[in-house]
Amino acid sequence: MTTPSSITVTVPGSTMLLGEHAVLYGYPAVVCAVDQYVTLTLSPRDDRKIQIHSTTLGEYETNLDALVIQKPFQFILASIMQWKDKLERGFDLEIASEFSDQIGLGSSAAVTVATLAAIQQWLASGFDWEKLHQAGIEVIRQVQGLGSGGDILASIYGGIIYYRADSLKFDRFKTKLPIHLIYSGYKTPTVEVVKKVEKTAHAYPKIFSKLFLAMGECVEAGKKAIQDENWSQLGEIFNMHQGLQEALGVNDKNLHDIISQTRAFNTVLGSKISGAGLGDCILALGDLPQHCFPKDESQRKQGVKQIPISVSMKGVVLKN
Ligand code: MEV
Repeated sequence: MTTPSSITVTVPGSTMLLGEHAVLYGYPAVVCAVDQYVTLTLSPRDDRKIQIHSTTLGEYETNLDALVIQKPFQFILASIMQWKDKLERGFDLEIASEFSDQIGLGSSAAVTVATLAAIQQWLASGFDWEKLHQAGIEVIRQVQGLGSGGDILASIYGGIIYYRADSLKFDRFKTKLPIHLIYSGYKTPTVEVVKKVEKTAHAYPKIFSKLFLAMGECVEAGKKAIQDENWSQLGEIFNMHQGLQEALGVNDKNLHDIISQTRAFNTVLGSKISGAGLGDCILALGDLPQHCFPKDESQRKQGVKQIPISVSMKGVVLKN
């Protein structure tokens, strides 16, 4: 039997634009792929071993007959398990990421999509996009217990995506948005923040149902602004949405300061938390000169950084 040659895929990271949290309560959201990539090479083996070498996660070795989901490789191992019944031989995975898994650029989703796509390409000789989407969401929900799957969609298809968590349907826009990310220097795990919001939502059901509804309205208005490429309107919507994120209890002093500092530039049209909140990244729309952050010594010590990004039109790409 000849050993098939290696398969290499590149997959973009992602960032949420609008609809965080509310998307987990039945409302739509908008996510976009960013031009920071995970590259994964799968090299088939003649035995049943699986060897993983990741630039961010380290080394791991296992066997097809001894697969268990183990940190920090949980998303990769859960993705391999999706194909367990069809795998007759092992393989090596070489994974290189342009971004840290500590920064909320959807690294778990990107590595999940990369693993699933490479195995699918190897065993099925091509991509089945819907199957990839479904399997990706299953992995995220199996490992985290929750997740809207927006990061999976963005990593698969690229561009800007309007979606709902309970549907495989979505709308994709190929618009180039002028966005900037500022990392706050720390991240509270998404699941922890989601549980906190859930707890407050249980305590104040009437108020939170209205907050989520208003976030859904921001998403619909934001989608229209993106379609019209009306960035000043989208900036206003970002600011309104941020007000609602604040009301959910996911803002903190550091994020508040960074948001105010970005808004002090008259070229910035709007800014908000991107993702779950209580740390992670601030998203600013418009023009922000390079190297504005960290603003001072205390932000430098905290690990605040400006991350140069733009929307990636590419999703999963098979190399060579
Ligand atoms: C996290 O980036 C966004 C949340 O809405 C969770 C999710 O969509 O899976 C908080």
